[in-house]
Amino acid sequence: MDLFEKLQELRDQGLSEIDKAKTEEKLNDVRVKLVGRKSELTEILHSMKDVEPEKRREIGQKVNKVRDLFNQKLDDAKNEIVEKLVKEQLEKEAIDVTLPGREEHLGTKHPINIILDDLEKYFIGMGFKVAQGPEIETDHYCFEMMNLPKDHPARDMQETFYIDSEDLLRSQTSGDQARELEKHDFSKGPLKMVGPGKVYRRDDDDATHSHQFMQMEGLVVDKNITMGDLKGTLELMAKHVFGQDRETRLRPSYFPFTEPSVEMDVSCFNCNGKGCSICKYTGWIEVLGAGMVHPNVLENAGVDSNVYGGFAFGVGLDRFAILKYGIDDIRDFYTNDVRFLEQFSKEER
Ligand code: PHE
Repeated sequence: MDLFEKLQELRDQGLSEIDKAKTEEKLNDVRVKLVGRKSELTEILHSMKDVEPEKRREIGQKVNKVRDLFNQKLDDAKNEIVEKLVKEQLEKEAIDVTLPGREEHLGTKHPINIILDDLEKYFIGMGFKVAQGPEIETDHYCFEMMNLPKDHPARDMQETFYIDSEDLLRSQTSGDQARELEKHDFSKGPLKMVGPGKVYRRDDDDATHSHQFMQMEGLVVDKNITMGDLKGTLELMAKHVFGQDRETRLRPSYFPFTEPSVEMDVSCFNCNGKGCSICKYTGWIEVLGAGMVHPNVLENAGVDSNVYGGFAFGVGLDRFAILKYGIDDIRDFYTNDVRFLEQFSKEER
């Protein structure tokens, strides 16, 4: 076979190899083989010394032409491969701008916390301090200090979860009164405090009962505190929470730690006192218990009841939230369904 034929064969074979190389890696191998230093084309050039001088020029030109063709085709093939890769990559990473966006889910404040935070601020503004007692409370603070000795019949008013004979899940926040009374230095001024927190009772859960709920205790003790102070304080709070045009009334009641004891009603915000299903056709809604601190409670904590007196109140925060937001099932507060929780005051995050 003469060199011309050989070149022709090399050319055809080379072109078909370039055609078959579908990755950059394979193409590189082909490039080395076809136009590298040890390629057959180079070999032909080296063997030119054996060729008759008049043919050398022609063969030289032909070799260069084949090499140029190879280089050209190799470059084209490489570009094609790179373009294909880029296209694939772009397709893979393409963003569908017509897809709906993903909403960010920020938490919202729990409705009870909205009311609690608001009330805390309200009372702090009136010079109260916030004092919290333990949820696992002792019989001593929860009951005995609060004028409820061991066999007092009024203990039945609160079905209590006992842990052992002394420790219990507090059924009321009233123990906070005793703890603060014991600590307070009356030479420095009156004691004014609110004590919010969780309480527990052995109740069967239904739409209006929960074995866990939130209370806020209130206590003011000083010289010359009267029932008028109690009434004024509670009335202002009720108007703050339920609206300025609400009316309040006090009804006589009984609590072992207050004497006299009262319950406060707020005029029904739904029917404005005319009577509806929310107020059970009475025009009034009961919102809290209160009274003048029983002298025994003061004495138990070492406070002279002949010099000092005061008032106390206990607010059911769940009840406040139920009334304020028109919620018909107390269990919604504790089952943590975000669809329920999200409804309250978006700005209160
Ligand atoms: N502790 C009482 C209750 O849970 C409420 C209350 C508190 C009443 C303070 C009077 C004074 O029912």
